[in-house]
Amino acid sequence: MSDVKHRVSIIGCGRLGQHYAEIYAALPNTEIVSIVEVNAARRAVVGERFGVKGEYGDVKEMLKEDVPDLGVVVTPTKYMKECVIACAEAGVKGISTDKPIAARLSDADEMVKACEDRGIVFAGGNLQRAMSEVQEAAGRLHAGEYGAVRGAVVHGFGGEISGGGCQYVSVLRLLTNAEVSEVVAWGGPDEAMERDDDDGLIIHGCFTMSNGMVCPVFGEQLTEVNHGVSVWTEDALIEWAWGPPNVYRGFDESGARVKIDPKYTPVEAVGSDYMYTSIQSFLSAVETGSKLWISGHDLRQALEVAIASKLSAQRGSVPVKLPLADRSHCLYPRAYRWLGGDEVGQEQPAEEARIYGFAMVQEMKRKRQQAQKK
Ligand SMILES: NC(=O)c1ccc[n+]([C@@H]2O[C@H](COP(=O)([O-])OP(=O)(O)OC[C@H]3O[C@@H](n4cnc5c(N)ncnc54)[C@H](O)[C@@H]3O)[C@@H](O)[C@H]2O)c1
Repeated sequence: MSDVKHRVSIIGCGRLGQHYAEIYAALPNTEIVSIVEVNAARRAVVGERFGVKGEYGDVKEMLKEDVPDLGVVVTPTKYMKECVIACAEAGVKGISTDKPIAARLSDADEMVKACEDRGIVFAGGNLQRAMSEVQEAAGRLHAGEYGAVRGAVVHGFGGEISGGGCQYVSVLRLLTNAEVSEVVAWGGPDEAMERDDDDGLIIHGCFTMSNGMVCPVFGEQLTEVNHGVSVWTEDALIEWAWGPPNVYRGFDESGARVKIDPKYTPVEAVGSDYMYTSIQSFLSAVETGSKLWISGHDLRQALEVAIASKLSAQRGSVPVKLPLADRSHCLYPRAYRWLGGDEVGQEQPAEEARIYGFAMVQEMKRKRQQAQKK
């Protein structure tokens, strides 16, 4: 990393935005110069918490006053497009967003294009694809360390195929080094198939990848471990199940796979490990032009696969080829992702915004687990 200090604006300072702010506030080469938050009470609390002078209720107001180097968009999905495009038009050098990127495919296209046309780095945000161990496993696979990839499978794709499904599609594309080029899918239950969002929709199917590989997709989780994306070679299995991928190599006397220690390079992260490495990849891309570990383009591709999956299922499991010619197709995520917590009655109280962060979430999880054990 160079000595450059990037001037950052956090746009949308709800629960996830506060995680981002924690990391940007802690890094030596970034400074949060402004926050943009429509909720006035939250804006005041978060601004004070991070010692930020520039507090704005609207992204355009902020851009009129002081264009930052980096615009970190963490609003609910509905508002991401206007924020990303406003930042791009104002000359922000790097913009990041989060998942899902949009509901309508043409909106995602516009965001990607607005950045591409201006040479702006457009990063994807807090996705497992940006975890350093996931990237390291993919790098080893691509270098042929485990032999040629023979197959891939997705486990547990359903539930929210856009909102959470983009995690699966992003890792699958990375590990197989290929695009999804055709989808055949089956979906249910009926009420979820009839709605225009992905809430509760379970999709099973088959993705054909651009390298010819045919990848089965199980909508539901079969076992505790079968939850994510696995790829295999002649004698190895790489299993991403939310976290650093497990690696199996060779077989024991009974013919079962042998789990090996992948000896991933340790990362000293600030806060959440993959949000940290995602941000590092973003900063590096802005400084050196290096490849993003998760990009806006990746999120757009994931949205397209989710839309194609539902379309195929709705039309009687017809093969749907990607890229989709009709960019007006749309799939809404769950209401809290689309509209945010405030608009669906899960408002974050000011007292929580004063302290909410990675450490607090870990502590809440620990307490929940303890209570479950009792
Ligand atoms: N990558 C992940 O792991 C992950 C996890 C949780 C949430 N998310 C995504 O992050 C996004 C935000 O989720 P959240 O849980 O932080 O929601 P949230 O409701 O807690 O926070 C969103 C914040 O944005 C503010 N806001 C709304 N419109 C705005 C605008 N136009 N300009 C500025 N601020 C605006 C709201 O007032 C709110 O404070 C959603 O799209 C969600 O899907 C991703």
